[in-house]
Amino acid sequence: MSTIQVNLGARSYPIHIERGLVDQAGAYFLSVFGQCAAAVVTDDNVAPLYLDRVMASLTQADVRAVSITLPHGERTKCLDCLTQLYTFFSEHHITRKDVVVALGGGVMGDLAGLAAATWLRGVRLMQIPTTLLAQVDSSVGGKVAVDLPQGKNLVGAFWQPSLVLADPDTLQTLTPAYWRDGLGEVVKYGCIGDEPLFRLLEKDAPMGREGLMQDIDEILHRCISYKANVVEQDEHDTGLRMTLNFGHTLAHAVETVQHYEGYRHGEAVAIGMAAITRLSEERGLTESGTAQRLIALEQALSLPTELPEIPKEDLLHAMTQDKKNAGDTLTVILLRRIGACYLHKTTTKFFRHG
Ligand code: GLY
Repeated sequence: MSTIQVNLGARSYPIHIERGLVDQAGAYFLSVFGQCAAAVVTDDNVAPLYLDRVMASLTQADVRAVSITLPHGERTKCLDCLTQLYTFFSEHHITRKDVVVALGGGVMGDLAGLAAATWLRGVRLMQIPTTLLAQVDSSVGGKVAVDLPQGKNLVGAFWQPSLVLADPDTLQTLTPAYWRDGLGEVVKYGCIGDEPLFRLLEKDAPMGREGLMQDIDEILHRCISYKANVVEQDEHDTGLRMTLNFGHTLAHAVETVQHYEGYRHGEAVAIGMAAITRLSEERGLTESGTAQRLIALEQALSLPTELPEIPKEDLLHAMTQDKKNAGDTLTVILLRRIGACYLHKTTTKFFRHG
């Protein structure tokens, strides 16, 4: 078992990584929150796999636990589902001293997290991420949100959890698409700041998912430690935290143009990382050979590396609509080499030629 502490003063919290943690949720809950109620929020993909085990563990620890199961998928990250959660909390008398438990992937973490941030002006949050993407990214760092018809994550908050339990065994049940979704973000950490992680992935990739699962504890530890460190230095995303968006400018544009029904987020990130590194290398902004090494790893992990057939103008338009970009001005994250990145201010012209 390993534990990573996210140091944010009074809002510091531990992230535990251990196989079998799902069955210890009750004991950990009790040790962090004491005697209070748990409102467990999950989806209909995750509930048949893990909800009974989490509820049994909470009940065994004498915690009053209630649960709600929502449909899986990005559409659940909406204001209507947020309202459903408020109704559920109200019916079950969830008070300010109680805890919302997000059990599932990024959608559950974001939705239940925003419900926790806003119910009664804020109640405590426990995350039990069950996908690779949620374990290495969305359950850490306190970004919670729902989507609006106008765009993704437009209504949200920074609301740190008080406890995160990452159980690598839950990754065994992921479909190939959900697995690839997380891998894109794992590769990202290797690219932006952890060359030894990148090398570990290069070693394991030829053995497929089984090879990666043999080193999964180390892979999770490295990704989560990296993110925790970044969040400690820039919780509110004004500088360093932006480097976590390597590959995301193009990825968000691809996802938007495909109406979130084409590539999954991590796959779009893999395409975005490959594309921007090809471009930055051509412009002499990245050491030569970097793009080739990145693309070789992505291909070995069965991640896509080429932009889909989308008119360039549509992609450029989507980039200028992104909430993080001010009009035509963009801050992109470029690699110096594998393991080192930097922020580069530019315009959409960067993507126009090449
Ligand atoms: N997913 C990027 C961040 O948490 O800042």
